[in-house]
Amino acid sequence: MNRNYKLLVVDDERNMRESLRTVLESRGTLVDTVESAEEGLTAIEASDYFMVITDARLEGMSGYEFLRETHERWPDLPVLMITAYATPKLAVEAIQTGAIDYLSKPFEPEELLHSVNRCAERHQLIQQNEKLKARLPFGYQLDDIIGNCQSLKELREMIRTVGPTEATILILGESGTGKELIAGSIHHSSHRREETYVRLNCAAIPETLLESELFGHEKGSFTGAVKQKTGQVEEANGGTLFLDEIGEMSRSLQAKLLRFLEDGTFVRVGGTEEQRVDVRILAATNRDIIDAIEAGEFREDLYHRLNVVQLRVVPLRERQGDVTLLAEHFLSGFGRKMNKLFQPLSSEVQHMLNSHHWPGNVRELRNTIERGVILATSDVIHPVNLPDFRLETRLRKEDDLSVSYEGLTLEEALASFERDMIRAELARNNSNLSKASQKLGISRHALRYRMTRLQLTSENGANDEDKPNGE
Ligand SMILES: Nc1ncnc2c1ncn2[C@@H]1O[C@H](COP(=O)(O)OP(=O)(O)OP(=O)(O)O)[C@@H](O)[C@H]1O
Ligand SMILES: [Mg+2]
Repeated sequence: MNRNYKLLVVDDERNMRESLRTVLESRGTLVDTVESAEEGLTAIEASDYFMVITDARLEGMSGYEFLRETHERWPDLPVLMITAYATPKLAVEAIQTGAIDYLSKPFEPEELLHSVNRCAERHQLIQQNEKLKARLPFGYQLDDIIGNCQSLKELREMIRTVGPTEATILILGESGTGKELIAGSIHHSSHRREETYVRLNCAAIPETLLESELFGHEKGSFTGAVKQKTGQVEEANGGTLFLDEIGEMSRSLQAKLLRFLEDGTFVRVGGTEEQRVDVRILAATNRDIIDAIEAGEFREDLYHRLNVVQLRVVPLRERQGDVTLLAEHFLSGFGRKMNKLFQPLSSEVQHMLNSHHWPGNVRELRNTIERGVILATSDVIHPVNLPDFRLETRLRKEDDLSVSYEGLTLEEALASFERDMIRAELARNNSNLSKASQKLGISRHALRYRMTRLQLTSENGANDEDKPNGE
């Protein structure tokens, strides 16, 4: 498990170096030795040590300067200081500079080993602590997934069933539907809940670095790889690795991931040795994965590997009743943060929220409520505290006609409907006016007239190059 359980000895006396090595290696500790503080710093940069033993008196940079520098650069790295002239003053100085312990020559091997053991224990504690930090905060439990519509009930039931298994799970859903929340709750409902949970956002890391982030790299494997680095698959060993936005992964890395999924083995970038870990994989994407496969951007074999269990999260607009439920949930949450107890949402506000299309799903709703809470001057959210959804509606896809006309006059609503319909038809026909007008059942002339009236000409980019007889 601890491949890097190594200790560094810095001493300019050869005899001392060798006797330290003999004592320590007899107890199974791996030892590297260097002759100077300068070499010591280079060695620490290049390798992971759980502790350093240094002589106080060194040629060049002194042991104390070395101690100060290591303490500054690697505050968690324990250093044991050895000196021939033990005085209380020096001891205090060493401890203050950051040495964890202090030994005066001559010393018994047992004294040395005792001190080394203490450092090893401390190192383990730090590592455990990091593991603890890596654990998910609260707020990613099954109960945190709010929603009473049938599909969400089924989703929670599914998580309860497959969570505790070792199955690889692919989570699909539009942006903001709660995929990250779901991944966290799966980890929480698994037997690995006490172990590390690592989330890797494949879209946030440049493609060239993603492989090394995932599988780690050996020192010197590429420019900038000054130190060996363990990848996230190793960090997640024993626990869960959540590959978010997996649809953004390059095809070449997909091949390596596939191999990893098949037998749990991988090779660090620039390495030759095959490594093996025990990691449960969860993956998510908001892309239409079948589309991505058809476009040749996602490997079908990888899809099948990931797709042992598939969870589909439905968009918010299709979740009957959940908009209000979630809105009230976020309202009380944000209200609590501001020490404010809000009145239940008025039916007018509820109606406005429910008529919106929510392209950004739960995230958009959450932001909307957060904004409303900030803008509200009393303990009531008024319609004016909500964004103008009509503006956003216009940003939506051209061919989407399920618009809300809430708040528009009849004239406005008709114009909006007409505009949407014409735009959609133009989009479907590559802005060819003749074809679009045919589909709409009006003359080409009438279409042009309406477009001018609706101010659609320029904004829509409709071209008039298709004039059959060049008007
Ligand atoms: N069912 C839910 N109950 C409570 N909060 C939710 C729910 N679904 C989503 N949220 C909240 O909405 C926000 C967005 O969710 P999340 O980040 O999980 O979405 P996502 O699907 O990963 O989005 P993206 O594809 O953009 O990464 C988060 O603050 C999350 O806590
Ligand atoms: Mg996400």
